[in-house]
Parts: sequence; C-alpha cells; structure tokens
Amino acid sequence: MPDIAFVNGHFLPWNEATISIDDRGFQFGDGIYEVIRTYRGIPFEVKAHLNRLDRSAKELQLAQPYSHVQWAEWIQQGLERGCYQNAKIYIQVTRGVALRDHAFPEDAGPTVVMTIRELHPLSLQTRQDGVSAATCEDLRWGRCDIKSVNLLGNVLAREGAKKAGVFEAILVRDGLVTEGSLSNVLAVQSGAVVTAPEGPRILSGVTRTVVLGLAKKEGIPVYERFMSVDSLYTADEVFLTGTTLEVLGVVQVDGKTIGSGRPGPITRTLASRWTLLTG
Ligand code: PDD
Repeated sequence: MPDIAFVNGHFLPWNEATISIDDRGFQFGDGIYEVIRTYRGIPFEVKAHLNRLDRSAKELQLAQPYSHVQWAEWIQQGLERGCYQNAKIYIQVTRGVALRDHAFPEDAGPTVVMTIRELHPLSLQTRQDGVSAATCEDLRWGRCDIKSVNLLGNVLAREGAKKAGVFEAILVRDGLVTEGSLSNVLAVQSGAVVTAPEGPRILSGVTRTVVLGLAKKEGIPVYERFMSVDSLYTADEVFLTGTTLEVLGVVQVDGKTIGSGRPGPITRTLASRWTLLTG
C-alpha cells in the first residue's frame, strides 16, 4: 500500500511531494504539527487534535489555512487512498516560503503537508512487560504547550534514551518531572493518578486528557501537580500516554524498579478501558 502525501491541497506521488528549501519550517522550525491515529480506519479524537492545531497556530500567529470541516475532508480522502486499518496521520503547517529573515514575512502563505502511513502498534509483549525509562534534563523552550516542529530538545532526549538502551526519556526541569520526549508521564501514588499540570511546561496530550477522564470515571482520584524525580522512583506505578503509545506501563526509571516491576493494577485498568474505548 502506498504511503499518502499531500502538499498544499494536492495529493501527490511520494517522491513528488517536496517543499522549498526556503520554507520557514526548514529554515527556522517555524511551524506546527499534529499526529492523529486511526482505529479500524476511523481517526481518533480528531476534533481534539484539530483544536490543538488551531491553538498552536494562534499562539504562533500562524495562519491556519483549513477549517475543521475541510481538514476532515482531506483526512478522509487520504485515508480512502491509503486503506490502512491503523494509520498515522501527520499534519504540518509552516509559515511558508520566504527569503530568510527571522521576522514574519509579509506575503507568504502557509505550507501545509499531510502524510498518512501505516501505524505499527507496540507488541502485546511490550505492553504486558512494560518499558524502561531514564530521566534527563528538560532543555526545551518555555512554550512546550505549543506543538511546534521545533523539537531539538525532544530529539536530543530521545537519542539519549536510545543510547542508554531505554524506551523513553523522562524530562526533568528544576528537579520536577515534566513529560516524556514524546509522551506524557503519569504516576500512581496512594491509589491516585498524579501528572504534571497543563501549562507552558508540557504538551496537553490528547491521550492524557482522555485517560484522566477514564480514571475519574473509574473513581480514581486525579491530581495535576508536579512530581519530584524521587517521588517518581517511589511511585506505586508509572505510565506513559501518547497517540502512538496509548497507555504504556513503565517498570524501571534510571535503573530503579517501579512498584512490583510489572505494569501495576491501575495502569492495567486504564489500558483495558482504553482498549474498550478504541475497540
Ligand atoms: N507526540 N508530550 C510530547 C512532548 C509529545 O510529543 C506528545 C505526542 C505527547 C502526547 O500527546 P498526544 O497524546 O496528543 O499524542 C506529549 C507525538 C505523537 C509525536 O511527536 O510523534
């Protein structure tokens, strides 16, 4: 099945889908993105993702070229071309093509790219066993709530995790856990789910929001507050949320075993509620 490429309102063969070297996404990382996945061909929480795209655009004073209805139409057309049951839809909007100058160009329109590829989910074994993580300093800028393509802090953290042989990097700023390099980090302490609050330090994950809702429905208390690294080590459970990861238990952080060393009961409950919700 071919991967699907879309540039500025046109579906194109993959190798013809190109962007100018003057594009500000390439020159400055001046752009935003979203990653949406499908379950059995249906995009999940598309409205929440498009709302966040709008918000990112607004925060960066970037023109968002399409309405939600138009985006939904493009996404549907792309999915019909791709025919994947589980697809990963990547959307990127940049400030467009202009002579290199840091300030905004007067006359450039946005560049819009969408790709649709097959999503290869994590193995059941990985989900059952949980994953390991390592903490590292959060070097990112002060507006991590904007889903910008400027991902160097995340890239360096993820590469560090890869080199350390662990699954995810857990970012720490001023001694407090913010989030993962591509996920939100949640812990279970005394039967409650604890996670960093929304704000400029984290991306407000769509999965995070849904999972916190599921926890509340289960009667599990939820506290949005920052945790120290030590309180993460001694948490009963730690888990990650994200579009591609869903609900994923973390059983080791910096070589220290979390809880029993297996994904704990609240993680497993939320993961199974997630599976029920997504079919
Ligand atoms: N990343 N925090 C960060 C820094 C992320 O990059 C992501 C997602 C999340 C989880 O957000 P959501 O639940 O909306 O996927 C949290 C995407 C998937 C990526 O960059 O590929």
